[in-house]
Amino acid sequence: MCDASRKGFSYFAEIAESYDRVQAVLSPPYERGLEMIVELIPFDPDARFDFVDLGCGTAEPTARVLERFGRSTATCIDSESEMLRIAKRKLTPYSGRVEVREGDLTDCTIPSCDLVFSAKTFHHVHPDRLPSLIARIAAALRPGGCFILYDTMSVGPGWSAAVRQQASRFRERHVQLAIDSGRVTREEIDARREYKRMMKAEGKDVEYEHRAEDIIRTMKKAGLEEAAVVWRLFADTILLAFVA
Ligand SMILES: C[S@@+](CC[C@H](N)C(=O)[O-])C[C@H]1O[C@@H](n2cnc3c(N)ncnc32)[C@H](O)[C@@H]1O
Repeated sequence: MCDASRKGFSYFAEIAESYDRVQAVLSPPYERGLEMIVELIPFDPDARFDFVDLGCGTAEPTARVLERFGRSTATCIDSESEMLRIAKRKLTPYSGRVEVREGDLTDCTIPSCDLVFSAKTFHHVHPDRLPSLIARIAAALRPGGCFILYDTMSVGPGWSAAVRQQASRFRERHVQLAIDSGRVTREEIDARREYKRMMKAEGKDVEYEHRAEDIIRTMKKAGLEEAAVVWRLFADTILLAFVA
């Protein structure tokens, strides 16, 4: 069991080892969201291109892209060393094609590239820091490049109680199926939820609800074109934008 009061504690450091198994259970759209990132990449399977994964975590999205696009090369950036330790282990088969860097995405250098993507990470970034982050992404992208942003965010007017209830039923049914299949235990799920609740209460796991419309406006201001919502499953949303 995780200990939130431990000195030097960090949420993602504590959950890193079980992240891949539990994330896909707690977030029902996650698996499909990752598949969509791969599907949305506007390059041929044998194209050479460089990409950057911002907030790569355990590098599940990066591994999938490297696997599908055999001549692509990656830079993975995350601020949590425990997540990166698992990322490096997972990326061993692709070691000649990937660099893993520890850094804060709000101020790290984003290398020049053809594609930037980020999965389930921007909701940890304060809204005031999004414009400069998106401007740095736009500046890093080469002509013809593209930015794929996958995260939870609101789109359009707020949902009714009925839609929220439907989202909750969808999530709980997904969790129960995973428990029934033996992937996780109820105790593990309850403990993780309690741990996250505690972390939030202590201000150690900070999340923001961004609006898709605001991010799209910011993308356009940064010079990105055709920015739009291209996929959504409840709050999980993918935005796609291009460099001219
Ligand atoms: C929910 S995980 C998502 C990981 C991965 N992208 C995925 O789809 O599985 C969020 C990740 O964002 C990282 N993160 C949060 N804030 C960050 C920041 N300011 N700079 C770099 N990484 C950050 C965390 O360390 C964590 O690995």
